[in-house]
Amino acid sequence: MGYFIPISCHSSPLLWTILALGMKWIEEALSCPTECTCNKLQVNCTGKKLQNFPTTIPLTTKKLILAQNNLTNLPLLTMSYLNELVHLDCSHNLITMDLDFSFPGLIKLTYLDLSFNRLSHITSFTFSQLSELLLLNLSGNPLMVEIMAQAFEKNSLLRYIDLSNCGLSYLSAEMFQKLYRLRILGIKDNPWNCDCKFLMFSNWLTNTDIKSPDFENTTCNKPEKMQGLSLIKAKLELRYLCLLHLQLEDFIYICLLTFCVFFGGTLVAWLVGFGTVMYYHPVVRLYDEPEDEEYRMI
Ligand SMILES: *[C@@H]1O[C@H](CO)[C@@H](O)[C@H](O)[C@H]1NC(C)=O
Ligand SMILES: *[C@@H]1O[C@H](CO)[C@@H](O)[C@H](O)[C@H]1NC(C)=O
Ligand SMILES: *[C@@H]1O[C@H](CO)[C@@H](O)[C@H](O)[C@H]1NC(C)=O
Ligand SMILES: *[C@@H]1O[C@H](CO)[C@@H](O)[C@H](O)[C@H]1NC(C)=O
Repeated sequence: MGYFIPISCHSSPLLWTILALGMKWIEEALSCPTECTCNKLQVNCTGKKLQNFPTTIPLTTKKLILAQNNLTNLPLLTMSYLNELVHLDCSHNLITMDLDFSFPGLIKLTYLDLSFNRLSHITSFTFSQLSELLLLNLSGNPLMVEIMAQAFEKNSLLRYIDLSNCGLSYLSAEMFQKLYRLRILGIKDNPWNCDCKFLMFSNWLTNTDIKSPDFENTTCNKPEKMQGLSLIKAKLELRYLCLLHLQLEDFIYICLLTFCVFFGGTLVAWLVGFGTVMYYHPVVRLYDEPEDEEYRMI
Protein backbone atom coordinates (compact mmCIF):
# COMPACT_ATOMS: atom_id res chain seq x y z
CA MET A 1 0.00 0.00 0.00
CA GLY A 2 1.06 3.59 -0.63
CA TYR A 3 4.17 2.86 -2.67
CA PHE A 4 5.01 5.45 -5.24
CA ILE A 5 5.61 3.71 -8.52
CA PRO A 6 7.50 5.95 -10.92
CA ILE A 7 5.93 4.95 -14.21
CA SER A 8 6.11 7.30 -17.08
CA CYS A 9 2.83 7.04 -18.95
CA HIS A 10 4.26 7.97 -22.29
CA SER A 11 7.31 5.79 -22.31
CA SER A 12 6.26 2.17 -22.40
CA PRO A 13 3.21 0.71 -24.13
CA LEU A 14 4.38 -2.72 -22.96
CA LEU A 15 4.01 -1.66 -19.35
CA TRP A 16 0.48 -0.52 -20.05
CA THR A 17 -0.36 -3.85 -21.60
CA ILE A 18 1.00 -5.68 -18.58
CA LEU A 19 -0.96 -3.40 -16.25
CA ALA A 20 -4.12 -3.90 -18.28
CA LEU A 21 -3.67 -7.66 -18.23
CA GLY A 22 -3.10 -7.52 -14.50
CA MET A 23 -6.27 -5.49 -14.02
CA LYS A 24 -8.19 -7.94 -16.15
CA TRP A 25 -6.87 -10.83 -14.09
CA ILE A 26 -7.80 -9.12 -10.83
CA GLU A 27 -11.24 -8.31 -12.21
CA GLU A 28 -11.74 -11.91 -13.25
CA ALA A 29 -10.54 -13.14 -9.92
CA LEU A 30 -13.06 -10.89 -8.23
CA SER A 31 -15.96 -11.19 -10.63
CA CYS A 32 -19.18 -12.88 -9.70
CA PRO A 33 -20.28 -15.95 -11.69
CA THR A 34 -23.18 -14.82 -13.91
CA GLU A 35 -25.70 -17.25 -12.45
CA CYS A 36 -24.93 -16.34 -8.87
CA THR A 37 -25.45 -13.43 -6.54
CA CYS A 38 -22.43 -12.08 -4.75
CA ASN A 39 -22.52 -10.03 -1.62
CA LYS A 40 -19.31 -9.04 0.11
CA LEU A 41 -17.40 -12.28 0.50
CA GLN A 42 -20.40 -14.53 -0.08
CA VAL A 43 -21.33 -16.21 -3.36
CA ASN A 44 -24.82 -17.70 -3.54
CA CYS A 45 -25.68 -20.01 -6.45
CA THR A 46 -28.67 -21.74 -4.88
CA GLY A 47 -31.02 -23.55 -7.27
CA LYS A 48 -29.54 -22.49 -10.63
CA LYS A 49 -29.53 -25.96 -12.23
CA LEU A 50 -25.75 -25.75 -12.44
CA GLN A 51 -24.14 -28.90 -13.82
CA ASN A 52 -20.60 -27.66 -13.40
CA PHE A 53 -18.78 -25.89 -10.64
CA PRO A 54 -18.62 -22.14 -11.48
CA THR A 55 -15.12 -21.19 -12.63
CA THR A 56 -15.05 -17.47 -11.88
CA ILE A 57 -15.58 -17.50 -8.16
CA PRO A 58 -13.67 -14.64 -6.53
CA LEU A 59 -10.57 -15.97 -4.84
CA THR A 60 -11.39 -14.08 -1.66
CA THR A 61 -14.76 -15.80 -1.21
CA LYS A 62 -15.41 -16.96 2.34
CA LYS A 63 -18.86 -18.44 1.93
CA LEU A 64 -19.92 -20.41 -1.15
CA ILE A 65 -23.43 -21.78 -1.50
CA LEU A 66 -24.04 -24.24 -4.32
CA ALA A 67 -27.13 -25.88 -2.85
CA GLN A 68 -29.87 -27.40 -5.00
CA ASN A 69 -28.03 -27.74 -8.28
CA ASN A 70 -27.07 -30.66 -10.49
CA LEU A 71 -23.37 -30.83 -9.73
CA THR A 72 -21.97 -34.32 -10.08
CA ASN A 73 -18.44 -33.67 -8.88
CA LEU A 74 -16.22 -31.13 -7.18
CA PRO A 75 -13.23 -30.07 -9.31
CA LEU A 76 -10.02 -30.45 -7.38
CA LEU A 77 -8.04 -27.79 -9.20
CA THR A 78 -10.62 -25.00 -9.28
CA MET A 79 -11.39 -25.47 -5.64
CA SER A 80 -7.80 -25.59 -4.52
CA TYR A 81 -7.47 -21.83 -5.19
CA LEU A 82 -10.27 -20.92 -2.82
CA ASN A 83 -7.93 -20.69 0.13
CA GLU A 84 -10.14 -18.26 2.03
CA LEU A 85 -13.21 -20.45 1.99
CA VAL A 86 -14.72 -21.01 5.43
CA HIS A 87 -18.20 -22.20 4.54
CA LEU A 88 -19.09 -24.53 1.67
CA ASP A 89 -22.65 -25.68 1.10
CA CYS A 90 -23.06 -28.28 -1.66
CA SER A 91 -26.26 -29.82 -0.29
CA HIS A 92 -28.91 -31.24 -2.62
CA ASN A 93 -26.76 -32.01 -5.64
CA LEU A 94 -25.75 -35.21 -7.44
CA ILE A 95 -22.17 -35.32 -6.22
CA THR A 96 -20.56 -38.76 -6.28
CA MET A 97 -16.99 -37.69 -5.51
CA ASP A 98 -15.00 -40.83 -6.11
CA LEU A 99 -11.77 -38.94 -5.61
CA ASP A 100 -9.66 -39.37 -2.59
CA PHE A 101 -7.86 -36.09 -1.67
CA SER A 102 -10.95 -34.08 -2.47
CA PHE A 103 -10.37 -30.79 -0.75
CA PRO A 104 -6.78 -29.63 -1.15
CA GLY A 105 -6.23 -25.95 -0.44
CA LEU A 106 -9.35 -25.43 1.65
CA ILE A 107 -7.25 -24.98 4.74
CA LYS A 108 -9.71 -22.63 6.47
CA LEU A 109 -12.88 -24.58 5.83
CA THR A 110 -14.90 -25.00 9.00
CA TYR A 111 -18.37 -25.76 7.62
CA LEU A 112 -18.96 -28.41 4.97
CA ASP A 113 -22.43 -29.44 3.94
CA LEU A 114 -22.58 -32.39 1.54
CA SER A 115 -26.06 -33.48 2.60
CA PHE A 116 -28.41 -35.02 0.06
CA ASN A 117 -25.93 -36.13 -2.56
CA ARG A 118 -24.78 -39.46 -3.93
CA LEU A 119 -21.62 -40.01 -1.96
CA SER A 120 -20.86 -43.68 -1.68
CA HIS A 121 -17.74 -44.05 0.41
CA ILE A 122 -15.62 -42.06 2.79
CA THR A 123 -12.00 -43.04 3.18
CA SER A 124 -9.21 -41.81 5.43
CA PHE A 125 -8.18 -39.39 2.64
CA THR A 126 -11.53 -37.80 1.81
CA PHE A 127 -11.42 -35.14 4.53
CA SER A 128 -7.75 -35.46 5.44
CA GLN A 129 -6.92 -31.89 4.31
CA LEU A 130 -9.65 -30.24 6.33
CA SER A 131 -8.02 -29.84 9.70
CA GLU A 132 -10.15 -26.82 10.67
CA LEU A 133 -13.49 -28.49 10.09
CA LEU A 134 -16.10 -27.93 12.81
CA LEU A 135 -19.27 -29.10 11.10
CA LEU A 136 -19.64 -31.91 8.61
CA ASN A 137 -23.05 -32.72 7.21
CA LEU A 138 -23.24 -36.01 5.31
CA SER A 139 -26.92 -36.69 5.92
CA GLY A 140 -29.12 -37.86 3.07
CA ASN A 141 -26.52 -39.92 1.20
CA PRO A 142 -28.31 -43.26 0.90
CA LEU A 143 -25.52 -44.82 -1.17
CA MET A 144 -23.10 -44.37 1.69
CA VAL A 145 -23.08 -47.79 3.33
CA GLU A 146 -19.70 -47.67 4.98
CA ILE A 147 -17.30 -45.20 6.56
CA MET A 148 -13.72 -46.16 7.22
CA ALA A 149 -12.75 -46.12 10.88
CA GLN A 150 -9.97 -43.58 10.11
CA ALA A 151 -12.27 -41.24 8.14
CA PHE A 152 -12.14 -38.36 10.64
CA GLU A 153 -8.62 -38.94 11.91
CA LYS A 154 -7.37 -35.52 10.72
CA ASN A 155 -10.48 -33.57 11.72
CA SER A 156 -9.84 -33.31 15.43
CA LEU A 157 -11.82 -30.06 15.83
CA LEU A 158 -15.13 -31.50 14.64
CA ARG A 159 -18.10 -30.55 16.83
CA TYR A 160 -21.01 -31.65 14.67
CA ILE A 161 -21.28 -34.67 12.42
CA ASP A 162 -24.57 -35.49 10.76
CA LEU A 163 -24.81 -39.05 9.40
CA SER A 164 -28.59 -39.32 9.45
CA ASN A 165 -30.53 -40.60 6.46
CA CYS A 166 -27.68 -42.63 4.98
CA GLY A 167 -27.24 -46.32 4.16
CA LEU A 168 -25.11 -47.20 7.19
CA SER A 169 -25.65 -50.47 9.03
CA TYR A 170 -22.67 -50.29 11.36
CA LEU A 171 -20.38 -47.73 13.01
CA SER A 172 -17.49 -48.24 15.37
CA ALA A 173 -16.89 -46.10 18.42
CA GLU A 174 -13.22 -46.05 17.51
CA MET A 175 -14.03 -43.62 14.69
CA PHE A 176 -15.11 -40.91 17.14
CA GLN A 177 -13.00 -41.64 20.17
CA LYS A 178 -10.30 -39.08 19.35
CA LEU A 179 -12.77 -36.35 18.42
CA TYR A 180 -12.61 -34.82 21.87
CA ARG A 181 -14.69 -31.80 20.86
CA LEU A 182 -17.53 -33.73 19.27
CA ARG A 183 -20.86 -32.59 20.73
CA ILE A 184 -23.51 -33.76 18.28
CA LEU A 185 -23.60 -36.92 16.20
CA GLY A 186 -26.70 -37.52 14.11
CA ILE A 187 -27.32 -41.20 13.31
CA LYS A 188 -31.09 -41.57 12.84
CA ASP A 189 -32.71 -43.10 9.77
CA ASN A 190 -30.03 -45.57 8.80
CA PRO A 191 -30.57 -49.30 8.27
CA TRP A 192 -28.77 -50.24 11.50
CA ASN A 193 -27.93 -53.86 12.02
CA CYS A 194 -28.68 -54.37 15.72
CA ASP A 195 -26.22 -57.09 16.63
CA CYS A 196 -24.02 -57.15 19.71
CA LYS A 197 -21.24 -55.31 17.88
CA PHE A 198 -23.46 -52.38 16.93
CA LEU A 199 -25.07 -52.28 20.35
CA MET A 200 -21.62 -51.79 21.82
CA PHE A 201 -21.45 -48.64 19.70
CA SER A 202 -24.87 -47.40 20.74
CA ASN A 203 -24.01 -48.16 24.37
CA TRP A 204 -20.89 -46.10 23.99
CA LEU A 205 -22.85 -43.24 22.44
CA THR A 206 -25.42 -43.16 25.25
CA ASN A 207 -22.67 -43.14 27.86
CA THR A 208 -20.72 -40.21 26.39
CA ASP A 209 -21.44 -36.47 26.54
CA ILE A 210 -22.07 -36.55 22.79
CA LYS A 211 -25.68 -35.82 21.96
CA SER A 212 -27.50 -37.72 19.28
CA PRO A 213 -30.68 -35.96 18.16
CA ASP A 214 -33.70 -38.26 18.01
CA PHE A 215 -31.75 -41.13 19.53
CA GLU A 216 -34.99 -42.31 21.18
CA ASN A 217 -36.55 -42.67 17.76
CA THR A 218 -33.59 -44.28 16.03
CA THR A 219 -34.53 -47.80 15.01
CA CYS A 220 -33.02 -51.08 13.85
CA ASN A 221 -33.44 -52.44 10.37
CA LYS A 222 -31.72 -55.77 10.78
CA PRO A 223 -31.94 -58.56 11.91
CA GLU A 224 -35.50 -59.17 10.81
CA LYS A 225 -36.95 -59.76 14.25
CA MET A 226 -35.56 -56.40 15.40
CA GLN A 227 -36.86 -54.38 12.49
CA GLY A 228 -38.53 -51.15 13.61
CA LEU A 229 -37.43 -51.62 17.20
CA SER A 230 -35.76 -48.60 18.78
CA LEU A 231 -32.10 -48.99 19.69
CA ILE A 232 -33.00 -48.72 23.35
CA LYS A 233 -35.57 -51.52 23.14
CA ALA A 234 -33.20 -53.59 21.03
CA LYS A 235 -30.63 -53.29 23.74
CA LEU A 236 -33.03 -54.67 26.33
CA GLU A 237 -34.04 -57.40 23.93
CA LEU A 238 -30.47 -58.37 23.23
CA ARG A 239 -29.19 -57.84 26.74
CA TYR A 240 -29.21 -61.51 27.58
CA LEU A 241 -27.79 -62.59 24.24
CA CYS A 242 -25.01 -59.99 24.19
CA LEU A 243 -24.25 -60.64 27.84
CA LEU A 244 -24.03 -64.35 27.09
CA HIS A 245 -21.90 -63.53 24.11
CA LEU A 246 -19.47 -61.69 26.33
CA GLN A 247 -19.69 -64.33 29.04
CA LEU A 248 -18.83 -67.06 26.59
CA GLU A 249 -15.61 -65.26 25.72
CA ASP A 250 -14.89 -64.74 29.39
CA PHE A 251 -15.68 -68.35 30.07
CA ILE A 252 -13.24 -69.58 27.43
CA TYR A 253 -10.63 -67.20 28.79
CA ILE A 254 -11.12 -68.42 32.32
CA CYS A 255 -10.95 -72.05 31.18
CA LEU A 256 -7.73 -71.40 29.34
CA LEU A 257 -6.28 -69.56 32.29
CA THR A 258 -7.29 -72.33 34.69
CA PHE A 259 -5.79 -74.93 32.41
CA CYS A 260 -2.55 -72.96 32.12
CA VAL A 261 -2.30 -72.48 35.87
CA PHE A 262 -3.12 -76.10 36.53
CA PHE A 263 -0.78 -77.45 33.89
CA GLY A 264 1.96 -75.00 34.81
CA GLY A 265 1.57 -75.83 38.51
CA THR A 266 1.69 -79.55 37.86
CA LEU A 267 4.74 -79.17 35.66
CA VAL A 268 6.56 -77.04 38.20
CA ALA A 269 5.70 -79.46 41.04
CA TRP A 270 6.88 -82.37 38.99
CA LEU A 271 10.13 -80.63 38.03
CA VAL A 272 10.79 -79.66 41.61
CA GLY A 273 10.13 -83.20 42.74
CA PHE A 274 12.31 -84.65 40.04
CA GLY A 275 15.10 -82.21 40.74
CA THR A 276 14.95 -82.93 44.43
CA VAL A 277 15.15 -86.63 43.89
CA MET A 278 18.00 -86.39 41.38
CA TYR A 279 20.05 -83.78 43.22
CA TYR A 280 19.43 -83.86 46.90
CA HIS A 281 18.99 -87.58 47.34
CA PRO A 282 22.59 -88.64 46.55
CA VAL A 283 23.93 -85.71 48.58
CA VAL A 284 21.79 -86.68 51.51
CA ARG A 285 23.02 -90.23 51.22
CA LEU A 286 26.64 -89.14 50.92
CA TYR A 287 26.15 -86.90 53.87
CA ASP A 288 24.36 -89.57 55.81
CA GLU A 289 26.93 -92.27 55.32
CA PRO A 290 29.93 -90.60 56.94
CA GLU A 291 27.65 -89.52 59.72
CA ASP A 292 26.75 -93.12 60.20
CA GLU A 293 30.41 -94.05 60.11
CA GLU A 294 31.23 -91.36 62.61
CA TYR A 295 28.49 -92.68 64.83
CA ARG A 296 29.89 -96.12 64.45
CA MET A 297 33.37 -94.93 65.26
CA ILE A 298 32.21 -93.27 68.42
C1 LIG B 1 -29.22 -17.83 -1.42
O1 LIG B 1 -30.15 -17.60 -2.43
C2 LIG B 1 -31.41 -18.24 -2.22
C3 LIG B 1 -32.28 -18.00 -3.41
O2 LIG B 1 -31.65 -17.40 -4.43
C4 LIG B 1 -32.04 -17.71 -0.96
O3 LIG B 1 -33.26 -18.37 -0.71
C5 LIG B 1 -31.09 -17.96 0.21
O4 LIG B 1 -31.61 -17.40 1.39
C6 LIG B 1 -29.74 -17.35 -0.07
N1 LIG B 1 -28.84 -17.77 0.99
C7 LIG B 1 -28.13 -16.89 1.71
C8 LIG B 1 -27.29 -17.43 2.81
O5 LIG B 1 -28.12 -15.70 1.46
C1 LIG C 1 -31.23 -31.76 -12.60
O1 LIG C 1 -31.55 -32.88 -11.78
C2 LIG C 1 -32.94 -33.06 -11.63
C3 LIG C 1 -33.14 -34.16 -10.59
O2 LIG C 1 -32.20 -35.16 -10.69
C4 LIG C 1 -33.53 -33.43 -12.98
O3 LIG C 1 -34.91 -33.62 -12.87
C5 LIG C 1 -33.26 -32.28 -13.96
O4 LIG C 1 -33.69 -32.61 -15.22
C6 LIG C 1 -31.77 -31.95 -13.98
N1 LIG C 1 -31.60 -30.73 -14.76
C7 LIG C 1 -30.63 -30.57 -15.63
C8 LIG C 1 -30.57 -29.27 -16.32
O5 LIG C 1 -29.81 -31.45 -15.84
C1 LIG D 1 -27.70 -31.36 7.57
O1 LIG D 1 -28.44 -31.08 6.42
C2 LIG D 1 -29.82 -31.38 6.54
C3 LIG D 1 -30.51 -31.08 5.22
O2 LIG D 1 -29.71 -30.48 4.28
C4 LIG D 1 -30.42 -30.55 7.66
O3 LIG D 1 -31.79 -30.86 7.82
C5 LIG D 1 -29.67 -30.83 8.95
O4 LIG D 1 -30.15 -30.00 9.97
C6 LIG D 1 -28.19 -30.58 8.76
N1 LIG D 1 -27.48 -30.98 9.96
C7 LIG D 1 -26.69 -30.16 10.63
C8 LIG D 1 -26.02 -30.73 11.84
O5 LIG D 1 -26.50 -29.01 10.30
C1 LIG E 1 -40.46 -39.99 18.47
O1 LIG E 1 -41.50 -40.26 17.56
C2 LIG E 1 -42.79 -40.07 18.12
C3 LIG E 1 -43.82 -40.50 17.11
O2 LIG E 1 -43.36 -40.48 15.83
C4 LIG E 1 -42.95 -38.61 18.54
O3 LIG E 1 -44.22 -38.40 19.11
C5 LIG E 1 -41.86 -38.24 19.52
O4 LIG E 1 -41.95 -36.87 19.82
C6 LIG E 1 -40.50 -38.56 18.97
N1 LIG E 1 -39.50 -38.36 19.98
C7 LIG E 1 -38.48 -37.54 19.83
C8 LIG E 1 -37.55 -37.44 20.96
O5 LIG E 1 -38.30 -36.93 18.79
